[in-house]
Amino acid sequence: MPQLKSPAELNELRKGLELGTSPDKPCIILCSGSACHATGSNAVAAAIEEELTRQDLRDTVDVRRTGCHGFCEQGPIIVIRPEDICYLQIQPEDVAEILSETIVQKKVVERLLCTDPELEQRIVHESEIPFYKYQKRLVLGSNGRISPESIDDYLAIGGYSALVKALSEMTPEAVVDEIKKSNLRGRGGGGFPAGRKWEGTRDAPGDTKYVIVNADEGDPGAYMDRSLLEGNPHSILEGLAIGAFAIGSNEGYIYVRQEYPLAVKNVTLAIKRAEEYGLLGENILGTGFDFRVKVHKGAGAFVCGESTALMTALEGRVGEPRPKYIRSNVRGLWNCPTVLNNVETWANVPLIINEGADWFTQIGTEGSKGTKIFSLVGKIQNTGLVEVPMGMPLRDIIFKIGGGIPGGRKFKAVQTGGPSGGCLPEELLDLEVGFDELTKVGSMMGSGGMIVMDEDTCMVDVARYFIDFLTEESCGKCVPCREGLRQMHKILTNICEGRGKQGDLEELEELSEVLSEASLCGLGQSAPNPFLSTLRYFREEYEAHITQKHCTALSCKGLISYWIDPEKCKGCLICMRKCPGEAVVGGKKQIHVIDQEKCDTCGVCMEVCPDRFGAVKKISGEPVPDAIPEAERMIGTGAGQ
Ligand SMILES: Cc1cc2nc3c(=O)[nH]c(=O)nc-3n(C[C@H](O)[C@H](O)[C@H](O)COP(=O)(O)O)c2cc1C
Repeated sequence: MPQLKSPAELNELRKGLELGTSPDKPCIILCSGSACHATGSNAVAAAIEEELTRQDLRDTVDVRRTGCHGFCEQGPIIVIRPEDICYLQIQPEDVAEILSETIVQKKVVERLLCTDPELEQRIVHESEIPFYKYQKRLVLGSNGRISPESIDDYLAIGGYSALVKALSEMTPEAVVDEIKKSNLRGRGGGGFPAGRKWEGTRDAPGDTKYVIVNADEGDPGAYMDRSLLEGNPHSILEGLAIGAFAIGSNEGYIYVRQEYPLAVKNVTLAIKRAEEYGLLGENILGTGFDFRVKVHKGAGAFVCGESTALMTALEGRVGEPRPKYIRSNVRGLWNCPTVLNNVETWANVPLIINEGADWFTQIGTEGSKGTKIFSLVGKIQNTGLVEVPMGMPLRDIIFKIGGGIPGGRKFKAVQTGGPSGGCLPEELLDLEVGFDELTKVGSMMGSGGMIVMDEDTCMVDVARYFIDFLTEESCGKCVPCREGLRQMHKILTNICEGRGKQGDLEELEELSEVLSEASLCGLGQSAPNPFLSTLRYFREEYEAHITQKHCTALSCKGLISYWIDPEKCKGCLICMRKCPGEAVVGGKKQIHVIDQEKCDTCGVCMEVCPDRFGAVKKISGEPVPDAIPEAERMIGTGAGQ
């Protein structure tokens, strides 16, 4: 490895690097992010190796394994460059045909292409697939081009040029000013302006200052930070080094949860390679700037994503938050001025330094500039990671990119902002996503989790679920959060299980106020959001649960009963055999009846009842009809069979 001694040496090295896009030598790009890994990308990679030898193509084609492309629903994904041909859900058996047809004969394998659900046409090119077409992948885009293990790949796409620019053409103050001018707001939670935070640290007294990447990412369903660290670790290191230069720091940490083994592996390797090239370490590129980075594996507690708890954990103590009488950018890690930013925030920095704040501020809304990555999950056709310009309406994200709700179900709500975010109803689908826009309607941007819910989701149960998560994850240090959440969880559980009573909602509202006013950290302060937002937009569901013991979505187990419609039952025995509680009584050609005493509402009877009969029904808020007398249950003799 060459130890680069100057920016000129780096530029020289860069000239000799190419990213396999020559038309004479096609490149097979195989997505190998965690989701594609789970759906079998290793087996596909092995099949590619085998077929390259078998078809004698080893010298004719490049193969590159990259990080996450985002379209996780359809993995494993292969893209053939330079033509940009995209194949989805690849199995090892498909590989021989891809090589012989597409690589050798330049023909497309139709059956492996994406199908446009509206036009019912096959789509050849990745950029034309609706999931990608409406995105603006500034931060995530390189994930699909480079191998995360190769620093040369990153250099070939212009990597580390922003660091060179900062170190050789800008003063630290100018870097801070550029970030301030860009109005880059933190992508990990509150949306605090990064430039102002950096300035505070730069101006704070003290010789030792730190920079930290927050890669704790504890929100259920969110995985954008993991995918960035796995797929493009150098972009985060580059941003971090620029930040360190700007604030006067020589030491940085990446706080990443240990459940992210691939992210830990790739970022650790990236640090090693950058040190070998002289892009991290002492006297970087001969500019006199020293900067070292260490990886710290967090034990995986949600509260450790909170800035002060994270720093306490980094110091080797129990990860609990501390009061913020003085901001952590002035007194943070080991009481030294510290800049903590989210993974995606850091990844935006090289782009801003390279392209300029004026370019960045052209993207987005008045108050929210640039793009935002969301992990689009839940009841959505195209689960995956999407990056959109700030200001895109929720409707476009969910329907144009996400492909809408599967199974012909109706959209009900979308939860943004992680477990302490809010649930937004259909009326707000035209809301443009942005920090202030989301806060105004009772939700928040958070780190970018976006959970879509359909008509079968009970909003009271959703609030209970998130409050349950937060109760478990509360560190217990402050009483309002520890006890308040426990109490909220108890009341919500009672409501979901049919024990709700008048006054519960008022008590929940009072508890919410205490939690947000009196909790020590953001966990408790924002914890009432799932309750408050569901109450604001779906109050009638709470009232129906409490007064009529009726769950509108027919989802709360304690409020539903299963009943077999005697008009439709064919006495086929299937539900009787499958019921784990032996609650279905009957016999062959006899109308089946559910013994309500024994039934634990698991729903297996409904799942297994053949669609053509559709005899099992769910009911809520009304009495179960009386069972027909035993003597009339023989099919053909009673109940109109
Ligand atoms: C309970 C809790 C958990 C948090 N988890 C994360 C997290 O996983 N990742 C993150 O970047 N920020 C998280 N935050 C926000 C951080 O406290 C902090 O604001 C953020 O890392 C600052 O970076 P940013 O300005 O770039 O967003 C969390 C906050 C709270 C209250």
